[in-house]
Amino acid sequence: MAEKAILGFLQNNEEITDSGLFSAEFNLDHDEVVNVIKSLHGFRFIDVQDIKKETWVLTDEGKEYAAEGSPEVQLFLAVPEEGSISKDELEKKLAPSVFSIGCSQAGKRRWVQMGRQVSRRVQNVEDKVKDQLLQIQEGKEVDNDSTSSLKARKLIIKETWTGYSVKKGPNYAPERKEVATDLTRENLQNWKELEFKEYNFNAKGAPLQAGHLHALLKVRKQFKDIFVQMGFEEMPTNNFVESSFWNFDALFQPQQHPARDSHDTFFLKAPSTTRTLPEDYVERVKRVHESGGYGSRGYTYDWKREEANTNLLRTHTTAVSSRMLYALAQKPFVPKKYFSIDRVFRNEAVDRTHLAEFHQIEGLICDRGLTLGDLIGVLKDFFSRLGMSKLQFKPAYNPYTEPSMEIFSYHEGIGKWVEIGNSGMFRPEMLLPMGLPEDVRVIAWGLSLERPTMILYGINNIRDLFGHKVDLDLIKRNPICRIGI
Ligand code: PHE
Repeated sequence: MAEKAILGFLQNNEEITDSGLFSAEFNLDHDEVVNVIKSLHGFRFIDVQDIKKETWVLTDEGKEYAAEGSPEVQLFLAVPEEGSISKDELEKKLAPSVFSIGCSQAGKRRWVQMGRQVSRRVQNVEDKVKDQLLQIQEGKEVDNDSTSSLKARKLIIKETWTGYSVKKGPNYAPERKEVATDLTRENLQNWKELEFKEYNFNAKGAPLQAGHLHALLKVRKQFKDIFVQMGFEEMPTNNFVESSFWNFDALFQPQQHPARDSHDTFFLKAPSTTRTLPEDYVERVKRVHESGGYGSRGYTYDWKREEANTNLLRTHTTAVSSRMLYALAQKPFVPKKYFSIDRVFRNEAVDRTHLAEFHQIEGLICDRGLTLGDLIGVLKDFFSRLGMSKLQFKPAYNPYTEPSMEIFSYHEGIGKWVEIGNSGMFRPEMLLPMGLPEDVRVIAWGLSLERPTMILYGINNIRDLFGHKVDLDLIKRNPICRIGI
């Protein structure tokens, strides 16, 4: 309908000056006319230009009064021609808002005498408000004073109306043939008779329902690349379940240590204990805990095998480091640089910054004669590759390292020193029972993967990043990770 009307009109006329007037004249729905104009324009049948007009339209309240009459007139009509009506009685006859607005408007206009009894002061009234509203509804104009009064009463609001002026376009034809849009077998067979829709090279493709890499994976990849560039080998971290022996005892962590409590560590119900441990090494570990050796006094307590056998979810990847160093000590010594990035578990209350499982990044270097200076140097090199070149170290305590240092980095974004990791030199009480040569030193450090990821991606609730509440949109939107410079 509308398409025929438009193309037909342009056959004999230069221009449709206003799609609104055109619709009114031909009794067409303007929205439909606009749709057809857009489609014809897409095929360049027509050229169009926007017309924007400010118009007044009725609000819901305005529409109600246009149909039912203004509240003041409704109220006036509810008052008897002769005599009076009690205010309570009158209130019952009208809707609450009509009553209250009607009272004030009819009172102001001196149409009624308001008191406990209400009576008419004039014989007849005209409903100008209703008339004006009806006029506006029909698209006619009313005088300025009335417009501002209706606007003040929130019966009308301004709206921008968009229409078009239309002229013939380069592909104009009095009629539009259905064009083929698909390369189907039938369409290809009839290609000579058909007109094909032109390609729209500017159309945006539908977003791909492809997989997205999680932010933690992207940051992990960056860390992994840095380790690999520095010549580190990755340690196998594919065992979340670990025995207390490798997680704690081998690291010279005493059996009474609070971290070995079920408040801090998840212990396994089944299988609750490990089946195999290297027996002669276990013996040396027991001895160093109980009575020391290698220049140490030990912890002087009764070391219990059952305690070492208990299975747990590893609380740090240093458990992996202890296994790897033990394995290294079983062969003629070669220096090694190892790293790992994987999951660890701690029985912690979950909040904005803590989860019961997270990822640990761990690096270690094992060589003859290493010093604390080497550790500081390696840490500076490692963190500078992350774009963190201002570092400070604070003495700390770990059962398995001496000396131990917390690592702080100056965060330019928040203008503060933030703790980024923990480090140290593994104690002789840990290394010598393994069988490593006496002059071999191991420098090591650890940090969480979540913390730098949250800083890099500006995420302040860890639950948006990891776990069952993870924000999938955030995963889809977040850009490629770029650490450092
Ligand atoms: N295992 C330590 C932690 O869980 C990190 C660390 C690794 C500290 C290596 C020193 C040396 O925080």
